[in-house]
Amino acid sequence: MIMRALIVSLLSIGTIAAPLAASANEPIQPIEAAKPKNEKMVKLGKMLFFDPRLSKSGFISCNSCHNLSLGGTDNLPTSIGHNWFQGPINAPTVLNSSLNLAQFWDGRAKDLKEQAGGPIANPGEMAFTHELTVDVLRSIPEYRARFKELFGADKINIDMVTDAIAAFEETLVTPDSRFDKWLKGDKSALTQAELEGYKLFKESGCTSCHNGPAVGGASFQKFGVHEPYKTASKAEGRFGVTGKDADRFMFKVPTLRNVELTYPYFHDGAAWTLEEAVEIMGRLQLGRKFSKDENAKIVAFLKTLTGKQPELKLPILPPSNNETPRPKPFG
Ligand code: HEC
Ligand code: HEC
Repeated sequence: MIMRALIVSLLSIGTIAAPLAASANEPIQPIEAAKPKNEKMVKLGKMLFFDPRLSKSGFISCNSCHNLSLGGTDNLPTSIGHNWFQGPINAPTVLNSSLNLAQFWDGRAKDLKEQAGGPIANPGEMAFTHELTVDVLRSIPEYRARFKELFGADKINIDMVTDAIAAFEETLVTPDSRFDKWLKGDKSALTQAELEGYKLFKESGCTSCHNGPAVGGASFQKFGVHEPYKTASKAEGRFGVTGKDADRFMFKVPTLRNVELTYPYFHDGAAWTLEEAVEIMGRLQLGRKFSKDENAKIVAFLKTLTGKQPELKLPILPPSNNETPRPKPFG
């Protein structure tokens, strides 16, 4: 009798542990909700992310190209910068970007803080200088007070600006996708076709590059393993950073979280549909031609990766005043 009770209780431990173990064996892990360390810093970072006065024109904010109403992208092949400048490369989403091993397609910024200084001073993006950015912020009493409260100093510098923006970006994660619910044990969260799509995704080898919580973002890989990728884009990926021949056309594997929202695809933004992107990936990266039905199932699976989008109240920004440097929208 005692023996039987023991066996029964061991069995029930087994059943309770099973769903957890199942997700631990998968190549993709669920996204966890953000746990902001410093709410006030996040709030300031959010204001800066939405403030177009961080640009020369006074018109372009981080949100212009990483629109948080549109999955953190601009849904354009390449972005539009200062003076309607045609950008050279597709804007990746800022959603879940804190999970990337490095930032940018070629990984040239090691983290979000280092990244955030780039676009402000990039002549083809916000076209400002870090000095003028600081002058603008310093002229506005509410910003001065917020920086002082957080950093304890009367001065503002670009380091503080990028710290705050990075803190806000760390909160831009998208948990609770249907796929994550399935990973956590809710077997009814996916349809049969979606599940078959996931099996194809795994078994055909997509997960050798697209894995981990972000379903990507964890390595640099060659684009064009079995056949070269034909593109008019001049981007050469990691080669631009290391100068090593072996790094030519090595790009950071993009996250596939929210990929349904982040079209068009690839670093040149040339593929407008997921069907096309999956076809190209199968052929170029795996040497495999999917049937129409297989392609549709993989696409159905990819759409289950859309998570809960950050729900944001638009920040109300303090006004400029007589001391604030004026924007230069043209020229
Ligand atoms: C004019 C459009 C534009 C503006 C404005 C802009 N970005 Fe970007 N952003 C891009 C493009 C294009 C890339 C990709 C560049 C590359 O990889 O070479 C990028 C890359 C990034 C990345 C890297 C994502 C990844 O997966 O590698 C982050 C994070 C980011 N931007 C945040 C910001 C922040 C913060 C601001 C405001 C300070 C900002 N961006 C302003 C267009 C823009
Ligand atoms: C050998 C590594 C590798 C394999 C295998 C691989 N991918 Fe990719 N994937 C990449 C890289 C690198 C990119 C970025 C290419 C670029 O635009 O420079 C990418 C981009 C994508 C994109 C576009 C994402 C975006 O935001 O632009 C999709 C969708 C995608 N892959 C799906 C898949 C699917 C589905 C499979 C399996 C059929 C697969 N990948 C297999 C490395 C890989």
